[in-house]
Amino acid sequence: MGYIKSAALDETGFVVLDSYNEEIDPQEWLSIEYVDWKSSGDTRFAPLASAKGEIECNGFWNHTPPRTDKDGVWIPEQTEKAPTLTRRAQEPGSNVGRCRIIELQPNSYADALYNLHQDDNNRLNPDGTGWVVRGFFNLTDDKNSYFVLRENRTDPSIEYRVALPAGAQLIVDTQRLWHAVHHDGDEPRYCLITSWESGPELDAYMEKYHAVPTAPQFEVSQEVLDAGQAEQARRDAARAAYYAAKGKAAVQAMSEA
Ligand SMILES: [Fe+2]
Repeated sequence: MGYIKSAALDETGFVVLDSYNEEIDPQEWLSIEYVDWKSSGDTRFAPLASAKGEIECNGFWNHTPPRTDKDGVWIPEQTEKAPTLTRRAQEPGSNVGRCRIIELQPNSYADALYNLHQDDNNRLNPDGTGWVVRGFFNLTDDKNSYFVLRENRTDPSIEYRVALPAGAQLIVDTQRLWHAVHHDGDEPRYCLITSWESGPELDAYMEKYHAVPTAPQFEVSQEVLDAGQAEQARRDAARAAYYAAKGKAAVQAMSEA
């Protein structure tokens, strides 16, 4: 049968929407509660919706009973402090799974390459239902930061680098594309991440905001690109050696960006 997917995501695995250009009070993301949750890089997360409405970030498949990344339960003590963000996550009208704000500390391009991962949003997702993809709304104005998206984690030949100024809005098939962010700044980056079920509602939302499966490439010198690639290979080898010494295979998949 297969999953219901968005045709708009076929080409590259991501789309960029019109930039969101309304002011949001930073207290919406600064006054809510964060939990330490090790993801790709030095991160914390503030959930707006979670598996059971509690302030925690575990994958829904790790709860009892385990389930896929759908039917997230809104957390009133968080959403009442972040009404605009909550409305934006609910705007498409498609099923919402996990919804949370990520706080990412500054890192390097090489860190981002090492952190590249695929999400497992569709674990336990019933065949014949909508494929879970993720929306990313950048909240802080991170003019020197960018998303790194690859079809293949270690192959730089397909690499999209999407700028992340305030208001940048992307929808990414994060189970297909390897992804991470290079955040260049003095302060943490904040971004709203929402798991949405693909279907007619999400398609209409993408159309409304003129989704395009491409973005101007954030310019980076070849020297930095090459150094990043070499550093990723070096760290991968070190990691594989570490796990080989313990008699285990290194596991690359993580669940967050
Ligand atoms: Fe991710």
